[in-house]
Amino acid sequence: MATNPEITVEAGRGKSATINLEPLEESLQKLIHQAFASGGPAGQKLKSFLNGTWLGEPLHVILTDIPIGAWTVALTCDGLEILTQQGEFATAADTAIAIGLAGAAGAAITGITDWQDVDPPARSIGIVHGLLNVGATALFAISLVYRRRKSRTNGRIFAALGYAAMSVAAHLGGKMVYEHRVGVDRTDGQALPDKFVPVLPESALPESTPTHAEHDGVPILLVRSGDKVFALAATCSHFGAPLAEGKLVGESIVCPWHASRFALADGRVLDGPAVHPQPCLEVRVRNGQIEVRKP
Ligand code: FES
Repeated sequence: MATNPEITVEAGRGKSATINLEPLEESLQKLIHQAFASGGPAGQKLKSFLNGTWLGEPLHVILTDIPIGAWTVALTCDGLEILTQQGEFATAADTAIAIGLAGAAGAAITGITDWQDVDPPARSIGIVHGLLNVGATALFAISLVYRRRKSRTNGRIFAALGYAAMSVAAHLGGKMVYEHRVGVDRTDGQALPDKFVPVLPESALPESTPTHAEHDGVPILLVRSGDKVFALAATCSHFGAPLAEGKLVGESIVCPWHASRFALADGRVLDGPAVHPQPCLEVRVRNGQIEVRKP
């Protein structure tokens, strides 16, 4: 279970006070949710687009490469300009900073969209990651202003400071992915059966009710809809929620944690924040047993 995010501050005379960040984080997430919800179906579509549902990967992760790459080029060109005194490197550095700023705007919008559906403890890391990136972007923007005013030394100093902030932010972003598995497909590595195996007596599957079954410890979601039976991996690819506790909407299942929606027929993502489809299983009924296997 995640612990509450807290910071401790010195309150003088050897005393300290602890501030619980959880209410602030929850309010922020609620505010972002409301902003998208106020857009109705169009707001949901925009949210899914920014998550990267259409791409099958988190869009944020791709966009972050733009400022990281562009600002690395900028710093390299700054160095070459100092070494060679050639004006072309100055132009290249300034252009790279401008490109990085445009990329940073895209990375910020997609990052905020993803963060609203991140749970503790990665949620707190996400806030620091975002604030550092805002700081880095501001420093590069100041650098560009100095460069436009022909104050290249100041421009280089602010760019170097921005790069340092961006590097720490990138480290925290890596921590979110590799340590807390944000954006990683939670169904990856699940051993689904290659051959048909029985998972539930047919009589135990009610109509239009998400039902939990299991094979070798891997949870499987079964849904009967008229004469059709659907089977999906029951661990949500987004953050691992039990989809058997979700809600049916027509022939789709809505995740109980962050409301991703998956098509029962093929597991594709209909609404984010999930970007990876749910593994889908073939179903047959033999001797009164529901059997499933990987297609
Ligand atoms: S766990 Fe987040 S949408 Fe399912």
